[in-house]
Amino acid sequence: MFADRVLSGMRPTGSLHLGHYHGVLKNWVKLQRQHECLFFVADWHALTTHYDSPEIIEQNVWDMVVDWLAAGVDPSQAILFIQSKVPAHAELYLLLSMMTPLGWLERVPTYKDQQEKLSEKDLSTFGFLGYPLLQSADILIYRANLVPVGEDQAPHLEFTREISRRFNHIYGKELGFEEKAEQAVKKLGSKKSKLYTELRTLYQEQGDEYALEKAKSLLNEQQNLSLGDRERLYGYLEGGGKMILSEPETLLTEAPRMPGLDGQKMSKSYNNTISLREDPENIRKKIRTMPTDPARVRRSDPGDPAKCPVWQFHLVYSDDATREWVQQGCKNAGIGCLDCKTPVIDKILAEQEPMLERIKKYEEDPTLVRNIIADGCEKANKLAEETMRDVRAAMGLSYS
Ligand code: TRP
Ligand code: SF4
Repeated sequence: MFADRVLSGMRPTGSLHLGHYHGVLKNWVKLQRQHECLFFVADWHALTTHYDSPEIIEQNVWDMVVDWLAAGVDPSQAILFIQSKVPAHAELYLLLSMMTPLGWLERVPTYKDQQEKLSEKDLSTFGFLGYPLLQSADILIYRANLVPVGEDQAPHLEFTREISRRFNHIYGKELGFEEKAEQAVKKLGSKKSKLYTELRTLYQEQGDEYALEKAKSLLNEQQNLSLGDRERLYGYLEGGGKMILSEPETLLTEAPRMPGLDGQKMSKSYNNTISLREDPENIRKKIRTMPTDPARVRRSDPGDPAKCPVWQFHLVYSDDATREWVQQGCKNAGIGCLDCKTPVIDKILAEQEPMLERIKKYEEDPTLVRNIIADGCEKANKLAEETMRDVRAAMGLSYS
């Protein structure tokens, strides 16, 4: 019933690196060409774990948006905004909290995992427990049906679907649903309303699927129905109520494991990253000094790419011919490690060049980025309001 809408968010916890580019941003850039996309800075989510260091949030927010733009996320194709600038996320979070069983939150696997992993912080807070619910509000408020995330976020999406189902189950029957549905039936005109009623009875009393299909196509052909009536008539057919919130699908981002400079996964906490806007000279230096197979002490010692983090970079960046050259040259000591690193350096710099080019104008004039975000926030607020109207009405809050 709703067209595809993609939504994803990122916490502003530091400058983005090649791992983010290959794991997330390249995928966003692809998606923005195919669907309506909303991408946002999850600044409230950052506060759930960084509540005691708010000073890092603001600079990170703007830096992150510039990194997105560098990567090719395009504000003329996607809506870019900041979570806290769309306060309705918080309103929906609050309203959903009324019907969210505590046990559901406590059982989300990331809850205990992260608490243990970040044990230096006190995360026995209400905000941290509510992390997945805030994420549900982010998604449900736009009725987004596609959410590109990494594997680690899959439990949050599962949780979101359960919340959506529970909400529709409890509130989907609007007050006086039956009467309103009957009135909508009348609006079909006498012939069609008679047909609709017959088909509905056939389906409900005899489970006649064919009748259900026919009734649906009858509704499809009606052009003068209001959106509300259309939803009611669909819901009424199958005996349910209105679908107020939709159920999002997880678009799993397969992470091409971007290696860090030390061979571990690239991550800020391992201090092994190359950031997107890193100074090119620095990139050269970092690659030149990165460790190689420890067996190659001297140039004449043969090595094994399987034991070398540089090889991981060739897997991301090099074509077959170059890889073959590395395999041979390493194993028979035909090439030196600096030779081996050169094509990697070239590829990373070539990948970076258009990024630096894209953001020149934003670095010269920071108000451009502010304007992009202001525009995105305005659009997001409008879309969020469409859902909030229905949610408030369903929860008895639509009086004025
Ligand atoms: N929790 C996500 C992460 O850490 C960020 C996020 C917040 C998000 N809200 C979202 C992702 C909504 C997708 C949809 O990566
Ligand atoms: Fe690593 Fe290349 Fe040196 Fe072999 S030649 S050890 S793959 S850097």
